[in-house]
Amino acid sequence: MKVLERPSLKSLNTFGVEASAGLLLTIETEEDLLSLPAFDPHRDFVLGGGSNVLFVSDVPGTVFLNRITGKDIVSEHDGYAQLEVGAGENWHQLVRWSLDQGLSGLENLSLIPGLVGAAPIQNIGAYGVELSSVLELVTAWDWQNSTWVLFNQDECHFGYRDSLFKSGETDRYLVTSIRLRLNRHFRPQVDYAGLRDALSSMGIDQPEAKQVSDTVIRIRQQKLPDPAVIGNVGSFFKNPVVSLDEAEWLCSRFTGLPTWPAGADRAKLSAAWMIDHCGWRGFQENGAAVSSQHALVLVNQGQTSGHHILELSAKIVDSIGQNFGVFLQTEPKIYTGPDP
Ligand code: EPU
Repeated sequence: MKVLERPSLKSLNTFGVEASAGLLLTIETEEDLLSLPAFDPHRDFVLGGGSNVLFVSDVPGTVFLNRITGKDIVSEHDGYAQLEVGAGENWHQLVRWSLDQGLSGLENLSLIPGLVGAAPIQNIGAYGVELSSVLELVTAWDWQNSTWVLFNQDECHFGYRDSLFKSGETDRYLVTSIRLRLNRHFRPQVDYAGLRDALSSMGIDQPEAKQVSDTVIRIRQQKLPDPAVIGNVGSFFKNPVVSLDEAEWLCSRFTGLPTWPAGADRAKLSAAWMIDHCGWRGFQENGAAVSSQHALVLVNQGQTSGHHILELSAKIVDSIGQNFGVFLQTEPKIYTGPDP
């Protein structure tokens, strides 16, 4: 386990905002967990790839960097295989590695930034697929009882960008590994219009898994700003889920507002469209900006602070509330410091 005093967190969050911590502990093996100090949710913070967090304040206590690696095919069955993957593995490298092993199921989730440990926390999803469709088991360290706990898929309480680890028992568990069930026989999932259209524009009717992955990569590179070039955490807001009546009423007032089904009696609204419609795309203030590429993404133009990004996000939430009567929820974890 590596220990660093008073580290800067700037290079450890993809927003690239400045923040410091009291101590940085890098957890490299499961054994490291046995000698960790107690976790104080008010003063400490667990960090994976830093691609879904906004630091608005310094972390007074310890930042635990989750870097437990390892990926293995642990069992083969008729038509599928099970993979065990450490929380510190890079997500996109896992996707490409699984395709190289002849396994499919993750191709739609290509190029999502971050590490594997964060994937079940917010049930990562893109182009019509969510992690929950392939996840079998989460192994986590229970800070409260100093022991490992296993969660099967039901126990994870997955929802849209949501799970037990995000909104149920926040800060109680540290994900150490996940088990995935991936297919030996590829079944394309190309219902998402943007993906289907991109494939058919290339004349591909029956894609292979790698072609789906390559296409998703290309779409993401075209649509979303690259965090390695300009600081961001992908979508800053979730797409709001409302009743069918509310969705119908909003669509009748705002022609063109995209909606998608969300279960039997709810609909998901395009937050990007609403933000764009209110003129926010490309808006900048104090070095924080709404990406000109995608209205759902806030960016750090170089030197801004978490505080300025949060200020901008609050203005957008207000504006969408006033114009559409819809409340936007933020997607990344926002660290505002210990409670007073
Ligand atoms: N749109 C605009 N203006 C924009 C961008 C988009 O009006 O600047 C409209 C377009 O009509 C477009 C629609 O919004 O058709 C949807 O855009 P997109 O396909 O990019 O999807 P999204 O709903 O904005 C969600 C996820 C993304 C994921 C894509 C593809 C959330 C919060 N975001 O975005 O996830 O890549 O779908 O599945 O659900 C992330 O979580 O960080 C992320 C990037």
